[in-house]
Amino acid sequence: MDEILPYITGDGSIGLFNKEYDDIYHSSCGALTEAYEKFVNPVTVTHDEIRVLDVCYGLGYNSKAFLNTYADKKIIFDCLDIDKDLIFLSPFIKTNHSFFDFFINPLKNNKFSKYIKRGKYKKYKIEDWVNAILIKNLHDQFKDEFSINKILSDKKFYPYLNKNIIKIAKFYLKKGFKDIQRENKPAFLHNIYYRYLSKRDIMFNFYIDDARKTVKNLNNEYDYIFLDAFTTHKCPQLWSIDFIKELFRLTSPDGVLLTYSNSIVVRQTLLEAGYFIGKIINEDNKQIGTIASRDKNKITNELTEYEQGLLKTRAGIPYRDSSLDSSIEEILARREHEVKNSNLMSSSRYIKQKGVLK
Ligand SMILES: C[S@@+](CC[C@H](N)C(=O)[O-])C[C@H]1O[C@@H](n2cnc3c(N)ncnc32)[C@H](O)[C@@H]1O
Repeated sequence: MDEILPYITGDGSIGLFNKEYDDIYHSSCGALTEAYEKFVNPVTVTHDEIRVLDVCYGLGYNSKAFLNTYADKKIIFDCLDIDKDLIFLSPFIKTNHSFFDFFINPLKNNKFSKYIKRGKYKKYKIEDWVNAILIKNLHDQFKDEFSINKILSDKKFYPYLNKNIIKIAKFYLKKGFKDIQRENKPAFLHNIYYRYLSKRDIMFNFYIDDARKTVKNLNNEYDYIFLDAFTTHKCPQLWSIDFIKELFRLTSPDGVLLTYSNSIVVRQTLLEAGYFIGKIINEDNKQIGTIASRDKNKITNELTEYEQGLLKTRAGIPYRDSSLDSSIEEILARREHEVKNSNLMSSSRYIKQKGVLK
């Protein structure tokens, strides 16, 4: 595993920073807020049975926020990530820190006060039962490989772990939840079992591999696809037209794909793959992502004419990876060559001609 450092983001939830890539996994403004604003709030769920594809599950914020919101539905989550350690860590990460923790955190975010003032701090949450369901599913799928000792042994994560969830996991891994009543365990375990785990129809399937390999073998129809890969120049393989076409194939007729990316190349790639696209706009009226669907009616915030024109510039030329196994360098070089030899207008010329973004 690369060297990954935890830190407290602007809403009190834990984000990760990858030293090797010099890149963050979560928005420093708020990992949990980002999950809700980009992957949950933009949709209205109408079906009772839902299938979700979480591409780049990581610590699972997006799926967890979704499950926390739709507690009354039957949901199957298919979760893809290349890093098993993060998946195993996902139920244990504390979602909200105390106000005091902001001041002792060495990587503290100096924007935090703004978020506390704007009410983002503790606005969103993930309840313990969501993590308990994850523990059950991780144990069912990975058996003894999913070990609590391994989680506890990584000292740098220890202060960021939810101690309540550790108790739940220890109990579950030893005895299973069925013994809870007999063992006369604390009320929170009892409630979690009887209110959620014994009746609920929630399933998490984990696929630990390069997502390009995994999608080739999937054949389900998904109502929601979360695409949360690193940025295009760091992870072009998960934004290529060939990969997005695979996601399009897996999208149900009225399904939607959600991503944090606003970039020209991502939007044009989604269009070329066959989707209708629109903007994700938050309550501060800021563009924070893109929504794509096979059903035009699912798109409420369409792109302006100006924004649509921008997609037809050189900046919109997609990444290509027809065999779905090229290296990052090959994909970047292929696109650079195509951009250099293209007759399309550059985005800077387009902006000069039409005026700056409105
Ligand atoms: C921006 S982070 C996602 C954060 C995540 N959604 C969360 O809630 O924590 C990107 C993730 O992509 C994963 N990843 C990178 N390359 C991948 C690949 N080729 N296939 C699958 N996952 C990949 C990383 O392990 C990382 O967890």
